[in-house]
Amino acid sequence: MIEIALCPAAALQEGGLAHRFKVLYNGEHAVAFVLRVNGAVHAYLNRCSHVPVELDWNYGEFLDDSGSMIVCATHGASYNATNGHCIGGPCDGKPLIGLHVFRAQ
Ligand code: FES
Repeated sequence: MIEIALCPAAALQEGGLAHRFKVLYNGEHAVAFVLRVNGAVHAYLNRCSHVPVELDWNYGEFLDDSGSMIVCATHGASYNATNGHCIGGPCDGKPLIGLHVFRAQ
């Protein structure tokens, strides 16, 4: 396992902008993001499960007005922000790809 520092924990505001970062996923360069929802930090590959495009509406903006759903900017698939499960739209039951993150001591 490789550990990398992403950002200060305080930079992630509840329901606010996500912090985007780069990862290697299956040997390919990809973009991922981390955000704070319901007091916890969650990270996902920035890739819709409908069509493999980035999800954000604007740079780092992933959440709907409730702050609890990630909504794809392309066709509107919606995902539970706390577990990445598809909850509506063309994601057709396929979840986001979650990444393991933790708070450094
Ligand atoms: S590409 Fe995300 S809903 Fe179609």
